[in-house]
Order: sequence, then C-alpha cells, then structure tokens
Amino acid sequence: MTSDLELYSYTFPNGFAWGTSTAAYQIEGGWVADGKGPNVWDTFTHQGGDRVFKNQTGDVACGSYTLWEEDLKCIKQLGLTHYRFSLSWSRLLPDGTTGFINQKGIDYYNKVIDDLLTKGITPMVTLYHFDMPQALEDQDGWRSEKIVGIFNEYAEFCFNTFGNRVKLWITINEPFVVAKFGYENGLHAPGIKEPGTGAYQTAHNMIKAHAKTWHTYHLLFKEKQHGSVSIALNADWSEPLDPTSVIDEKATERRLAFSLDWFAKPIFIDGDYPPLMKLCVAAKSKEQGYPSSRLPEFTKEEMQMIKGTADFFCLNYYTTRKIRHQEYAQAGPSFKADEEVEEIKDPSWPICGIEWLAVVPWGIRKLLKYVKDIYNDPIIYITENGFAQSDPASLEDTLRWEYFRQILLEILKGIYLDKVNVKGYFVWSLLDCFEWTEGYNKRFGLFHVDFNSSSLLRTAYTSASEYAKVVASNRLPAPENKLE
Ligand code: BGC
Repeated sequence: MTSDLELYSYTFPNGFAWGTSTAAYQIEGGWVADGKGPNVWDTFTHQGGDRVFKNQTGDVACGSYTLWEEDLKCIKQLGLTHYRFSLSWSRLLPDGTTGFINQKGIDYYNKVIDDLLTKGITPMVTLYHFDMPQALEDQDGWRSEKIVGIFNEYAEFCFNTFGNRVKLWITINEPFVVAKFGYENGLHAPGIKEPGTGAYQTAHNMIKAHAKTWHTYHLLFKEKQHGSVSIALNADWSEPLDPTSVIDEKATERRLAFSLDWFAKPIFIDGDYPPLMKLCVAAKSKEQGYPSSRLPEFTKEEMQMIKGTADFFCLNYYTTRKIRHQEYAQAGPSFKADEEVEEIKDPSWPICGIEWLAVVPWGIRKLLKYVKDIYNDPIIYITENGFAQSDPASLEDTLRWEYFRQILLEILKGIYLDKVNVKGYFVWSLLDCFEWTEGYNKRFGLFHVDFNSSSLLRTAYTSASEYAKVVASNRLPAPENKLE
C-alpha cells in the first residue's frame, strides 16, 4: 500500500487541467445591462419572500460583466491552465430564442474567450447553469417538451459563434439540482413545487435536450471545430449507515440510482433510467393510484438517441452521506417518497462554512472509483469541488486549504492507486459570489470579494496562494511537519 507520504512526491499527470469554475448569474451582475433579458433567477430574487438570505439578488453580484479584467487578473495570479464559466442564455438571446440576438452579449463573451486564449488559458464553457430565460419559463421552461428543440437552437448558435475557439463544452450544470430544487421542492428558481412529478418531467427533457445538442455538435461542428461535449453531474458519495445491514446497503444503492445514475446511466450507458429507479417509482405510483408510473419513459428511438452522448465525464463533488432505509407512505415534497432513504451526516465529520457541507475528502476517491467501474473508465474532469466560509470570512483560511489539500491527496490516490482517468480539477469557485439561497452569506471563493466596496475589490485568500503553488508545480506539497 502506497503511503500518503509517497503520494506527495507524485506529480499530477502531464497536461492535467487546473481550473476554477464560476456561473454567469452568480458573478456577472449587469442584470439589465446592454439588452440582457431577464432570467428565472432575476424574477425569483426580485419577488422577495425571504427565499434568499436577506432577499439578496444577483443584480450586481461580483460585477464581472464590467469587471471581467479583474477576474482575469485573479485567474492569472492562480496560474490556471483552464477556466470554466457559463454563458447567460438571456444575455445572448434575451427571449431565449434566436429570433433576437443581443450583439452586446456576444461581444462580452468574445472578449472573455479571447482574453483567456491570449493568456494561454483554455476556456471550458457551460451553456446552462440554472438561469433559464424568463420568456421561456413563461412557456413552462424545462417542463415543456418544446424546450428540447429550443435549447438545441441556443446551443447551435453558441457553437457557431464561439466554437472556433471553445473546445470544451458542458450543456447543463447539475440537472439533478435543477430538477429537484427548481421543480420539486421549489427552493431554487423558478420555485415550482410539484413533488413526485416535476423533477422527473424536467429531468426527462434535460436529458433529451443534452443528447440532441451532443448530436448537433457531432453532426455539424465536430469535424471542423474538434471539440467535445459533456454534461456536469453532481453526486454526493453514499455509504450504508450500518455496513452490515442489507437494508441500508439497498437504500444506498437506491440513493445512487436516484442521483448520479438517474442521468449518467441513460447518457453514458444505454439511454434508459436505472432499473431500480423505474421499479421504485412505478411501485409507489401504483400505490398512490396513478394510472402509470410518474417516471416518464423514453421511446426506443429516444434511447438510441441518448446513449453515448458525452465525450468525457464531468463530476461535481462536495460531500458524502451515510444512508439508511426510511419508509415514506405518500409522495412527499422530495424524491425521498420514491427512493425511501434517509441521509445522515456523520457527527464526526467537520462542517465547512455551510450546513450541508460535511468535509469528507475520502468520498471523492470512492466516487471516482465508482464512476470508473460503472461508466467504463471514462476521462473524468472534476468540474466543481469546494469549501465555504461564512461571512465575514478570514483571509487566512488555512483550515479550508487543509481540506483542499486532503481532497487533492485523495485524487492522487484515485489516479495512482485506483487508476482512475482524472484529467482535471476545478475549484468552486474563483470568487466569492451569489450562493443561490444563501446570497452573499457563504463564501466559496479563492478570492474574497468586498461586496460593500463600489469597486467590488478582489483579494486572495491563503487558499489562493496555496492553490497557485500546486498549479505551478503540478504536484501536491507535503505539509512541512509531515516531511520530518
Ligand atoms: C453549483 C454552484 C454552487 C455550488 C455550491 C454547485 O452545486 O453548481 O452553482 O454555488 O454548488 O453550493
């Protein structure tokens, strides 16, 4: 068994992608600047109602729409090889369709992409990170099958406009979160509460939209542009609460089926949902008197269209949970009604800045191994991973850096001991930014943003300088006391 100490001497593989991730709504601000159309988060935050910490909004956020060059300085300071950001759909297409194109939006992203490339930084671009144009949400957004074609047109427009320079594309960020929080429990925009149906219906359309877009790229652009397309899936690692209990073991299988596999199995394997998920939803639906399963079915043609539509695997990892079986009689406000599991945070795990974020570095290694084994050893980019601090945050975040270091060590173990094909790692996030329902109260940035200063001043945390050292050397330094 290789010791931790030996691993420290390992460099990351040649050409390893070192990045940070951001999302348009969380950093850009400029919510009505230069003809941008409103999106669901503009609407959701403006409605108030205490669904977001202190009713804060992304109207200004980090001001990246006007302060992009400040962001670029941070990226340079970290020495990143890659930068992942998302396009604001309604900044480019104010009503979501190609009927009207906002040139100012194109100009903005052209500058971002060109500046990155000039500095030798590879852009990784997400087409959709939670910000559906409001005009499309008014026509039912992800709940409507029509969105499949509309999303594909938006994507085609982006490939046409930016694809000569962007080679790494992500269609949708975390469809699980969009489905569950946007359309099941309503905690995120657009705030729809349709327990037991909303999430399944929207996930179904997201999978189809993703797959159609992948085909569009491969049919019309791949040959000329030589890029690749994927989707970013989030997953918590899950372990049975009682490792000797068959019931907890089964519950853990269900938990994975209803989260990562829900999207990964159709896209990476065979175009269809996990059998366990189909069984559970069908059985519950029957019990509840539905004429058919609440989980929609893909047709044979759709399955053919969906399977194999990702060129690499994008994984967002934050935490791990212990799982035990829990029976739910009725379709409740969450998927638990179908999956019948209870998620437990082990009290011995530290929490980093935000209540749900139990620090479990070893979970990432297990998750990586799972993806390797189940999904045929794909190329994996860890497109998000991070730790938060509560506001006000100390610039000397040494403990937070220790968590990053432990994560990186687990990734090294994944690469060298488990032979997982990890090609890159992206910290969430470059900057402190609008953390959805938490507003500006939780800080995930490697750079602190002073939201009270008119210049929205960016200042490096200790983690930023430490991360820069890893990026520069392509290796993980051992902590001094451990080297003695
Ligand atoms: C999302 C980010 C978010 C982060 C921390 C991820 O699920 O993609 O937008 O800020 O988690 O909560």
